[in-house]
Amino acid sequence: MEHKTLAAFPSDFLWGSASAAYQIEGAYDEDGKGLSVWDNFVRIPGKTFKGTTGDVAVDHYHRYQEDVKLMADMGMKAYRFSIAWTRIFPNGVGEVNEVGVKFYSDLIDDLLAHGIEPVVTIYHWDLPQALQDAYGGWESRQIIPDFVAYAETLFKAYGERVKYWVSLNEQNIFTHMGWQIATHPPGKKDEKLFYQVNHHANLVNAAVINKFHDMGIKGKIGPSFAYTPQYAIDSNPMNVLAAENAEELGAHFWMDMYVYGEYPIVALNYLKEKGVAPVFAEGDAELLKSAKPDFMGLNFYQTATNAWNPIDGGVENKDSYQMNTTGKKGTSKDSGIPGLQKTVQNPFVETTNWDWTIDPVGLRIALRRIASRYRLPVLITENGLGEYDKLEDGQIHDTYRIDFLKKHVVAIREAISDGVDVMGYTTWSYTDLLSWLNGYQKRYGFVYVDQDETMNGSLKRIPKDSYYWYKDVIASNGCDE
Ligand code: BG6
Repeated sequence: MEHKTLAAFPSDFLWGSASAAYQIEGAYDEDGKGLSVWDNFVRIPGKTFKGTTGDVAVDHYHRYQEDVKLMADMGMKAYRFSIAWTRIFPNGVGEVNEVGVKFYSDLIDDLLAHGIEPVVTIYHWDLPQALQDAYGGWESRQIIPDFVAYAETLFKAYGERVKYWVSLNEQNIFTHMGWQIATHPPGKKDEKLFYQVNHHANLVNAAVINKFHDMGIKGKIGPSFAYTPQYAIDSNPMNVLAAENAEELGAHFWMDMYVYGEYPIVALNYLKEKGVAPVFAEGDAELLKSAKPDFMGLNFYQTATNAWNPIDGGVENKDSYQMNTTGKKGTSKDSGIPGLQKTVQNPFVETTNWDWTIDPVGLRIALRRIASRYRLPVLITENGLGEYDKLEDGQIHDTYRIDFLKKHVVAIREAISDGVDVMGYTTWSYTDLLSWLNGYQKRYGFVYVDQDETMNGSLKRIPKDSYYWYKDVIASNGCDE
């Protein structure tokens, strides 16, 4: 619907930006930190772009005060960051590393002193290697009590100061990349195991949310889901069915579980038919049904468009997410699952150099679909543009990023006008950072960092034009987008 006048952003709207520990901190083996699966995975030849690692990343561990100061100057209201499990428990379980606990405690204090609300992600993919070695990490149900013990330590240490918590970042992505297409650790391709691992992650998510609520923490917790809304290429009913298949298996499959504690009917039936449905242990169904997130965290980057894909002779390629890791436009391959759907180009939307669609209306659609199906407030925990940035006379004129974000801010305002309860917007990302598979050349930040594939940059911070643009947006509470 079109609105004659748009609603205002709520006065307590969380205007912010985001990051993740492995992608910014560096100091990968300092102050008692243990190794994570990512610390090792990046050392396997060919796994990351030009062999880039997060050993130094953008050195946030040593420069967090400078980073927070720049956030404060920008007027940022919220900062989403993740905690490295291996700084708190170097071996995943056992003895707490107090230096690690203090690092995040100091960061939280610094943020609060500058009037910035911390939004803490408990898990952004850097599983302790010790747990991978001990029992296969997510492949074992032992991850459930170990994860809850880790989270409980965080709730006790920071629960009085942190009001917003993200349980798992993009469960759909880390399980897909780790166990379906082997591009993230542990680098496996095993369909049945993928669904079982994902089931364990659902149990972890439910158990952590229950722990948070049982402890009576005065705050809100929810998962961050990487939601790619699915479209049909046209009104051919078979193409519409293909889009529905993609939405059912790519979105409802996770979000229904988070909110209703059940796998959706059509998806579960499909997995049973293929013999890959997750095995439930006694008590799983009850646990899953007992937990309810306080909000849905939404990581929105793009939309996807679908056409029918016949079971015999159809396109077979599971990677519908991030095939192009080179930044050479048009190098993505077609993806699809015979009998379900295949992904096709949408003639109505532009794409980035990494072939991600640029579709602000898709964000409005995502927000509305979540609000209508799940009746939860939404915290947009990621959204942004990964592009090349070029220094010109010591400055970055990223008008393309401003244009991208501007249109997404309008889309959020339209969704609010439609009735969606949007809590905040933490863009991806605050500073430039390491992209897991794309090195340092795919940049997202408001703040440029002099770092590249040589991993030898000066690490100097330079606010981009988008930094000053966002500062105005925040100051006007979204009126001056
Ligand atoms: C999300 C992740 O999938 O997308 C981030 O939560 C990631 O950690 C971001 O960096 C952008 O992806 P990419 O591959 O462009 O770095």
